[in-house]
Amino acid sequence: MTALRSARLRQALVTRLMTEGYVHDRRWAEAVGTVPREAFLGGAVFRATNTESGTLWTPLRRGDVSAEEWAELAYANQTWVTQVGGITAIEALQPIAGAPTSSSTLPGIVVRMLEIAQIADGDSVLEIGTGTGYSTALLCRRLGDRAVTSIEYDPSVARQAEEAISSAGYAPTLVVGDGLAGYDENAEYDRLIATCSVRYVPAAWLWQVRDGGTITTPFWGWMNGSGLVHLTLADDGTASGRFDPFGVAFMPARPHVAPPLSHYLIGRGEQRESRIDPNILDDTTGLFVAQLGAPSAQRMGTGDETVLLDVATGSQATTRSDGAGGWTVRQHGPLRLWDQVEQAVLTWQEAGRPPQSSFGLTITSDRQYVWLDDDGGPNWNLPA
Ligand SMILES: C[S@@+](CC[C@H](N)C(=O)[O-])C[C@H]1O[C@@H](n2cnc3c(N)ncnc32)[C@H](O)[C@@H]1O
Repeated sequence: MTALRSARLRQALVTRLMTEGYVHDRRWAEAVGTVPREAFLGGAVFRATNTESGTLWTPLRRGDVSAEEWAELAYANQTWVTQVGGITAIEALQPIAGAPTSSSTLPGIVVRMLEIAQIADGDSVLEIGTGTGYSTALLCRRLGDRAVTSIEYDPSVARQAEEAISSAGYAPTLVVGDGLAGYDENAEYDRLIATCSVRYVPAAWLWQVRDGGTITTPFWGWMNGSGLVHLTLADDGTASGRFDPFGVAFMPARPHVAPPLSHYLIGRGEQRESRIDPNILDDTTGLFVAQLGAPSAQRMGTGDETVLLDVATGSQATTRSDGAGGWTVRQHGPLRLWDQVEQAVLTWQEAGRPPQSSFGLTITSDRQYVWLDDDGGPNWNLPA
């Protein structure tokens, strides 16, 4: 694979990202056209196959395909998963099951998020989730090494990213640790951007971003509802902003991962008619709203039998078709999870089922809450 061929594939990617509306700013386009993504995939990536028992991840090594095919894969507008359940693609000897724990995100999403974060020349940026280091390198290309600090939780991922970033000629501050604590040494930052999702905004992020600065982070919860929120910090210590219409789903920040599921008991609890159709949880915004109502619940099953479980208290809710076009729910335990979900979903439905961009998040010294329409509208506390 010649350098010229790589450069051509990069340019083709830039053209595609511009045509498809992922990138508008020519300076980000220039960064995508310069940073060699193939350097960030390491020696192997995972390919996904959907099976009856879930997704199976098959390692694909650089040597398994021609240099031409590997470069085409690197410059596809596609996410490449590089680690599953803590096992990197280079370590995996056979197909494995599990949740992705690191990846090189779709370049289109990476640059779209950089634009949504309104990162401008001269800004200092804290990035949470270095991953392969590709987005870190784009930041360095645009802002210069000294302006960029990036934190990665997983030491082996961080090591590989450091090698890739330095081989591409960049030298930002790279930190190994929990990004939820930020990195005080280089604060204050103009922008904070996360490429892993949080259930709520960590306090350290608010302390380390300057007044008037912004936090752009994927939001996610234990029912798997997700979104992208862009917050601006005010000088009274509060922060506020809306969810972006460009919804994203990123892997959760490791300390925010849901606890392992425990057992639940079929047919347990008091039964009544459900006031909503549980299939609403298959709608992206419906799920987002249901999760706001019951943030401690994890969801199993769909449609005919939806089960919600709160591991901490053992509370559970199970919905079933009543055979006559309606739905019943059985609830057990100290939390009435379905009551919480119903209340949130009914509020949203009565408002005319507005899209996720009608919601926003406000953070004050004593609470974080998601609101509908405006800060005075219906609202739900996050589990901060
Ligand atoms: C989607 S990947 C990042 C993609 C990356 N920015 C890129 O362009 O290749 C998310 C990364 O966040 C990391 N991560 C998860 N929780 C974290 C935390 N609490 N602090 C820092 N990094 C974290 C994961 O290990 C993973 O490598």
